[in-house]
Amino acid sequence: MKKIIFLLVLAVLGCKSNEKAVEPTGLVTSKAMVVSAREEASQIGVEIMKKGGNAFDAMVATELALGVSHPQAGNIGGGGFMVFRKANGETGAIDYREKAPLAASKDMFLDEKGNVIEGKSIATALASGIPGTIAGIFEVHKKYGSLPINEILEPVIALAERGVVVTKFQAESLAYYSASFIKSNGKNSLFSKAYKENDTIKYTALAATLKRIAKNGRDEFYKGETAQKLVAFLAKKGGNATLEDFNSYNSKWRTPITFKYKNLKITSMSPPSSGGICLNQIMKMIEPFNLSQMGHNSIKTVQVITEAERRAYADRNYFLGDPDFVKLPTKELLSPSYLEKRMNDFSFDQASKSSDIAHGKIKGYESNQTTHYSIVDSKGNSVSATTTLNDNYGSKIYCDELGFFLNNQMDDFSAKPGVPNLYGLTGSEANSIAPGKRMLSSMTPTIVEKDNKLFMVVGTPGGSTIITSVLQTILNVYEFDMSMQEAVNAPRFHHQWLPDEITFEPNSFDKELLSGLKKKGYIINEKNKEIIGEVDAILMLPNGKLEGGADKRGDNKAVGF
Ligand code: GLY
Repeated sequence: MKKIIFLLVLAVLGCKSNEKAVEPTGLVTSKAMVVSAREEASQIGVEIMKKGGNAFDAMVATELALGVSHPQAGNIGGGGFMVFRKANGETGAIDYREKAPLAASKDMFLDEKGNVIEGKSIATALASGIPGTIAGIFEVHKKYGSLPINEILEPVIALAERGVVVTKFQAESLAYYSASFIKSNGKNSLFSKAYKENDTIKYTALAATLKRIAKNGRDEFYKGETAQKLVAFLAKKGGNATLEDFNSYNSKWRTPITFKYKNLKITSMSPPSSGGICLNQIMKMIEPFNLSQMGHNSIKTVQVITEAERRAYADRNYFLGDPDFVKLPTKELLSPSYLEKRMNDFSFDQASKSSDIAHGKIKGYESNQTTHYSIVDSKGNSVSATTTLNDNYGSKIYCDELGFFLNNQMDDFSAKPGVPNLYGLTGSEANSIAPGKRMLSSMTPTIVEKDNKLFMVVGTPGGSTIITSVLQTILNVYEFDMSMQEAVNAPRFHHQWLPDEITFEPNSFDKELLSGLKKKGYIINEKNKEIIGEVDAILMLPNGKLEGGADKRGDNKAVGF
């Protein structure tokens, strides 16, 4: 009987009854849009679509234009994930995540006593995985592109040659990392110079690399002159990547994670990203609660979301890794009965303790620094892509000859079970280092359908906070009736099981809310993170137009027509 009542409640909540018309507050266009971390990149993506290219052509252009204009995360020396939905409703995903070099080993970041050597997985040439970006975009272009690759690369190369103006955000970021650039690359490197707002940085070496890629294709990066120069450069810096690693790198089409939340259908990234599975777990754990009635960022809403996040991240850290190397209990982790049981011990009276939660029992089993862009073309094809060097400017090692930074994605592996990485995430055996393995990610490029029609394209940087920022953006629109731009701007909070604390964007939340949560036993952290995520999203409006949500927390910009 109890079960029947529960199911009836779920059916009533099955779709939101009080949906009201919401006035857009972001850029509104009629046909197509790109929202990315830099205006230059959004503009180039849109230019490609104006020329007749589709969302996939625009993806190739935007990804590379971010590599030029947003060097802290846009890249050709890193990797990423893309989820798409074609106008006919077909969905899919591509994994162009970096791979560990063949010479990598489980204990490569440990000393003789078995302790993690500080910084070795972050700021050395050994921190780099084999980059996947060029393989990923060429694979997407081969399967779904419509314009010739030279035509797509043309405006990107022109941008690199012309140079990019330093914004206020960028000037601050470059100044912050200046000592690291000098330490890694010496005084004469491109990024070792001092830049101020409104200076123009010309990317001549990167333009030359991109020209060779335009001429010789994907193999230029994995077999040609670029591969050879890069391997020699990494070896000189103490790295272990070989030409064999580059020759054997492949991107991989994956089946995305797909699930229902009320009358929404969510499509998000599957492993080796934890994004889709975590988002699925959290949304299913919170679905039985009437969040819109509880109110946006009310104490009850924060509690429900926090407790679901706590449980999902405990599972993430224990069970997830590269599916090509470890058997993942995906079906079990996403089963309705498992998720219902996971929330059984939740109470509004008192915070759960992460030390009491751990990962769930499953039979048979014992994130700022990234960048996201969303694209919709005039036919209704959509692309949601998140790409990264891991930390800002990756390992900080910049190859002046080729014109790009190298990632430090090896830090996303669990160097030693239980020892936190850059994002405070701990891992288990499932995410240990092995040759050719991909490190676990939190990237969550996501596409949302409502009543079987495209509704939202969304994603963000932010390491471990990516998943929870995507979650809150979807809820802000769907449960709390915000416009796309309002949903992106709204203050965010985050819980990731360990450390057992809720991180809030400082000075953005009600003092009463915070003291109410403290009284219930929650530990509040308002200090460690100034911002949580930089969401770039597109919402389909009821009249068929598009609204962009470009995060105010950076240089993000929506451009469209
Ligand atoms: N490097 C951040 C992530 O992939 O989650």
